[in-house]
Amino acid sequence: MAFPNRTVLLSILGSIASLANGCSYEPREATIASTHHSLYTGLTTCREVVSSFLSRIETLNNHTNAILTLNPHALTIADSMDIRLQSNNASGFGPLFCIPTLLKDNWDTIEMPTTGANLYLNASQPTIDAPATAALKKAGAIIIGKANLHELALEGLTVSSLGGQTINPYDYTRTPGGSSGGTGAAVAASFAVWGTGTDTVNSLRSPASANSLFSCRPTRGLISRAGIIPISYTQDAIGPIARSVEDVATALTVLASVGYDEDDNTTALVPAGSRGVDYTVGLTQGSLKGIRFGLIEGFFNRTASPETTPVNEAMANITAKLWAAGATIVPITDSLYNATAIAKLDTQRYEYREEMNTYLQRPSLSGPRPKTLDELYATPPGKFLVIPSEYEYVNTALVSSTSNTSYATVKTGIQNLTLALQETFTAHNLDAMIYPEQKNLVVPIGSPSQSGRNGILAALTGSPVVTVPVGFSPATETAPKGVPIGMEILGRAWTEELLLQLAWGVQGLGRVRKTPEWAEREVEVRGFEEAVPGVTPKKDNIPEAYPVGVL
Ligand SMILES: *[C@@H]1O[C@H](CO)[C@@H](O)[C@H](O)[C@H]1NC(C)=O
Ligand SMILES: *[C@@H]1O[C@H](CO)[C@@H](O)[C@H](O)[C@H]1NC(C)=O
Ligand SMILES: *[C@@H]1O[C@H](CO)[C@@H](O)[C@H](O)[C@H]1NC(C)=O
Ligand SMILES: *[C@@H]1O[C@H](CO)[C@@H](O)[C@H](O)[C@H]1NC(C)=O
Ligand SMILES: *[C@@H]1O[C@H](CO)[C@@H](O)[C@H](O)[C@H]1NC(C)=O
Ligand SMILES: *[C@@H]1O[C@H](CO)[C@@H](O)[C@H](O)[C@H]1NC(C)=O
Ligand SMILES: *[C@@H]1O[C@H](CO)[C@@H](O)[C@H](O)[C@H]1NC(C)=O
Ligand SMILES: *[C@@H]1O[C@H](CO)[C@@H](O)[C@H](O)[C@H]1NC(C)=O
Ligand SMILES: *[C@@H]1O[C@H](CO)[C@@H](O)[C@H](O)[C@H]1NC(C)=O
Repeated sequence: MAFPNRTVLLSILGSIASLANGCSYEPREATIASTHHSLYTGLTTCREVVSSFLSRIETLNNHTNAILTLNPHALTIADSMDIRLQSNNASGFGPLFCIPTLLKDNWDTIEMPTTGANLYLNASQPTIDAPATAALKKAGAIIIGKANLHELALEGLTVSSLGGQTINPYDYTRTPGGSSGGTGAAVAASFAVWGTGTDTVNSLRSPASANSLFSCRPTRGLISRAGIIPISYTQDAIGPIARSVEDVATALTVLASVGYDEDDNTTALVPAGSRGVDYTVGLTQGSLKGIRFGLIEGFFNRTASPETTPVNEAMANITAKLWAAGATIVPITDSLYNATAIAKLDTQRYEYREEMNTYLQRPSLSGPRPKTLDELYATPPGKFLVIPSEYEYVNTALVSSTSNTSYATVKTGIQNLTLALQETFTAHNLDAMIYPEQKNLVVPIGSPSQSGRNGILAALTGSPVVTVPVGFSPATETAPKGVPIGMEILGRAWTEELLLQLAWGVQGLGRVRKTPEWAEREVEVRGFEEAVPGVTPKKDNIPEAYPVGVL
């Protein structure tokens, strides 16, 4: 990309901007394109862009408790980018140049510890970046901080011993989905332009759905997972969460640019035609006309209730709009598509201990920390939340491995499921499958689990999914704009380009996304002459049902 006459523009517009008294950049609902427009026309500086998000976090984080840590070097990095802007060195500007980005706190980055939001990992400090983090930095992204997650990404409630409970920005009585719920809440509130997540069963899609955002869980193998706290070799995936399809496409392009990584052998699966793809190029060239969507009937709860009816209505609304746009909706009624039944093939229990031991022993980690999963959950000094639904799982994972005889049966079951999914695509000549991410609204704070989610199909089969906002429940006293509802668009392997085009088409059917009410507030940009402030997560809001303790 070339930006002609930047020096000239900068000198003229820069002086106008400095007269404009702080109103030169709008962080609320900002996109990569709007941020670059402000920067490259000299309306703002990178320091001001970063400061505007830090100011919002400092002032507003107490509404949602989404942020765990801020990067103390964020403004120094911004200043170095301002020097490059002034020297008009366009060759060095990557697609994420000066884009404030939040990492889920299970991604390694050298500026901050990687805690998994667990008290016992509070000082686990990476000395090298995860390859995916390195790719973001190379593309110019500024990692401004790290977001809370459901502790160790093991559930979808986004409550943790280190970060407390993250609160849904649209309804303070509800969870933000999860496990990447800190990222979801933060991006919804415009605490950054976008953020990252991980997904072992639902975790990139549930927070997108519950926060009126877009996300992409890529095909298994597209992006290296090295340097990211793992759960499952078979199911783990990483990806972006953003406020627009365009920004998901840009971020996905950068993340996938890591390519083959010997530290994650699934990256060898990427076929030649799917390597080095720029997902932004054909984004706007697709059409919904003539597209055949399979609608998975088994992924709905048709029992009418305040928790389910809005989801069913939002899906009815979107399918009507898809028909009107020239697409065909094919009902898929095969009893195979039962998320509860499919979940019996979940591999996490077998793979977790081995994967976690390997991660905790990475030579690139420094700082005191447990070196094995057993040690992490040992008595004392293991410290973690005890959530009844979750710790049955942990107990099993502690005594299981990939040498359990039933592991092989589960793997064969996954192969069968993957073939059956291909048969459904082929028999009905489908381009994609659609269904609600969650059969009901995102659950209230204090619930035993994030029930009703449908993410397991893509997680087991390694299929790509783009999640899109499709509606809101009716407004209530605690949810002045209603609770967000999201839809998954699932494709065959390596069809991210098509799925993003379809999501772009859905985005164009009418704006669904809304800003949370309190996040509409304009926050004065602070100077930050000295240093980036710290954040102190609220821990006094952990529901009583989840004590911090030991097994
Ligand atoms: C957040 O903090 C501000 C200023 O201290 C306070 O006015 C506001 O009530 C707090 N909001 C919440 C939701 O805690
Ligand atoms: C331009 O930026 C690139 C990337 O940061 C750097 O490698 C290069 O040396 C810079 N060129 C000049 C002339 O400053
Ligand atoms: C981690 O927690 C321990 C125990 O509470 C505390 O002593 C230590 O200072 C913490 N370390 C960091 C880096 O936060
Ligand atoms: C791929 O890597 C996993 C661990 O990350 C290892 O268990 C497995 O044996 C490797 N597979 C091959 C074929 O090398
Ligand atoms: C379906 O929704 C109803 C009403 O919310 C709920 O009682 C029931 O448990 C749900 N069924 C399933 C299978 O989740
Ligand atoms: C889905 O599977 C679960 C568990 O196998 C079963 O209890 C339930 O009845 C099935 N639901 C339907 C609609 O068949
Ligand atoms: C794996 O085997 C161990 C030992 O027999 C057993 O306790 C555990 O429950 C098994 N794990 C699974 C997931 O079946
Ligand atoms: C997988 O499919 C094969 C062939 O249809 C069948 O024999 C086998 O029992 C299935 N295995 C599982 C675990 O579903
Ligand atoms: C469905 O569409 C109608 C008409 O536009 C709208 O009033 C309603 O809020 C939508 N429902 C949901 C759950 O988004």
